[in-house]
Amino acid sequence: MKIQAIKTAIREFLKGPSVKFCLLITNHTSLAIMRRLNHIQLDADELQLIISRIKNKRPCKLLVFGLGNDSLLWNELNRGGKTLFVEDNLEWLNLVKKMYGIDNAVLVDYGTKLDQWQSLLDQPEVLGETLHQQISAHDWDFVLVDAPAGWHHDAPGRMKSIFTAAAFLEQGAEVFVHDCNREVENHYCNVYLKQNNFRQQVGKLRHYQQTGQAT
Ligand SMILES: C[S@@+](CC[C@H](N)C(=O)[O-])C[C@H]1O[C@@H](n2cnc3c(N)ncnc32)[C@H](O)[C@@H]1O
Repeated sequence: MKIQAIKTAIREFLKGPSVKFCLLITNHTSLAIMRRLNHIQLDADELQLIISRIKNKRPCKLLVFGLGNDSLLWNELNRGGKTLFVEDNLEWLNLVKKMYGIDNAVLVDYGTKLDQWQSLLDQPEVLGETLHQQISAHDWDFVLVDAPAGWHHDAPGRMKSIFTAAAFLEQGAEVFVHDCNREVENHYCNVYLKQNNFRQQVGKLRHYQQTGQAT
């Protein structure tokens, strides 16, 4: 019992420093340790791809769909830049705010259900509904889509977040979409982010950038 408590205390103590360290020395090992300590779902290789792209252009404007245990990492990576998190789960938003002191998140209501993904494909007027004024107020350099939930029928699904990301891709943003092993993410990426903008896939993460943009 005591050993477990000590382990937990050490883990808690190392969480923050591990984020700073992996941004200083970014490699598979530092990221693998950091994500384990922080319980991040994106894996080390996926994180490395995103970090390597953003490091080239920071401070920048970074839009992240989904608050998570990785939020501290994105704020730290883009220190001095503009980072905005988009979250639809109020309980989770309040918890993450409290845990990490995040004050740059907005609450949205997607108003969709995963089951509607096929019918929504032909409804750009619905997919393009403004989610939050703060999202449309900026021309984002990077967009990371790892939300909303899309793993059960009742979940909102990522139709609107991918559609929104596609609009910023057209304006020059680099876009990352996670969970592209799933039918909806795969389909919406193919339709809206388009194959000719596809740059690479690492694990379940796809990277899109318009042709002609500096790499
Ligand atoms: C798929 S998770 C990914 C988070 C992060 N990018 C990562 O790799 O750890 C993002 C979404 O899942 C939901 N979520 C994540 N963890 C949750 C939790 N413990 N309880 C409730 N919802 C959670 C939130 O609504 C959030 O927007």
